[in-house]
Amino acid sequence: MSQPPHGDAASAPASSSPSDPSEASGDAAATARLLPGGPVAERILAEVAERVAALIRRGVTPALATVLVGDDDASAGYIRIKQRQAAELGFASPHAHLPADATQADLHAVIESFNADPAVHGLLVQYPVPAHLDYDRALMAVDPDKDVDGMHPLNMGRLALGLPGPLPCTPAGIEELLAHHGIPVSGREVVILGRGATLGRPLAILLGQKRPTANAAVTVVHTGVPDWPRYTRRADILVAAAGVPGIIRPEHVKPGAVVIGGGVRYAGRRLLPDVDESCARVAGAITPRVGGVGPTTVAMLFRNAVAAAERATAAANGSGDPTVSG
Ligand SMILES: NC(=O)c1ccc[n+]([C@@H]2O[C@H](COP(=O)([O-])OP(=O)(O)OC[C@H]3O[C@@H](n4cnc5c(N)ncnc54)[C@H](OP(=O)(O)O)[C@@H]3O)[C@@H](O)[C@H]2O)c1
Repeated sequence: MSQPPHGDAASAPASSSPSDPSEASGDAAATARLLPGGPVAERILAEVAERVAALIRRGVTPALATVLVGDDDASAGYIRIKQRQAAELGFASPHAHLPADATQADLHAVIESFNADPAVHGLLVQYPVPAHLDYDRALMAVDPDKDVDGMHPLNMGRLALGLPGPLPCTPAGIEELLAHHGIPVSGREVVILGRGATLGRPLAILLGQKRPTANAAVTVVHTGVPDWPRYTRRADILVAAAGVPGIIRPEHVKPGAVVIGGGVRYAGRRLLPDVDESCARVAGAITPRVGGVGPTTVAMLFRNAVAAAERATAAANGSGDPTVSG
């Protein structure tokens, strides 16, 4: 789907230093250790670049296609960032730009042509699309095996069933971020504020799975749980996934807990995170305001893309199960 990740890799490089806690918040009293996403993304992207190079040595150039509808500057900017990153990693990045008055049929025709093109391995439709178009219908038209966002219903189903497949980028990036920074998750209590389809819901499934970097006791709270602070206050790991600026305050955090800021809202270009900066005084570790979850989201997109190219190549060569993720 490709919603803009907050603190996008290009706009928020791995500038935060774990040794400078004040950078989390600009708050002199901050004590929490920082959990920047930049180094996590760099490691994942280095691995992706190696896998791309291996495919190219075999005569396959992985291709990640993008579709943009309309002339929204921010969306065009996100596409440019992804294309630049794709080129740096060795991907081809064919692009279709439809006018703002494109019809649903126009959009589906472009999606179908990328679906049918064996030289295209991954496909993302930039979100949002103009109001007269149905984004969810477009998402469902994307070939699930080319779905680099991992948001197609078939891939959400694979996730729910524990089957291999492209994983939703932001939740998968959060699991990677926790693992990279050595935060134990297995057996610990994770509380997620928000049950949205992009973040809270798939993250709950992911972190509850039987795997050393997951395997948590996961609780999801939302507007149906008015006393949600009762739950967040007992969390070893608290994930904000509501999209309500400043909703997580120090009194909602167990002292020493790990706080992951996923939810964000934009006021123009200004980023308003769910996690109030004063939480850094109570938390043991916390993602920085910019450059936390965003860079890992982008990195997972490219990991999904190279895995899609590997699957397609294996299937074309008659080796391997094309539904299995790399
Ligand atoms: N960092 C990244 O790269 C990245 C990527 C994707 C998404 N995001 C952000 O993640 C956030 C979540 O996105 P989403 O699409 O998964 O979710 P969503 O559909 O926007 O849903 C938000 C969730 O938060 C809950 N919520 C909202 N206000 C609340 C309140 N006052 N008290 C308790 N719960 C409340 C809602 O509860 P109900 O279900 O009861 O309404 C809902 O479950 C958004 O801010 C989005 O921008 C970030």
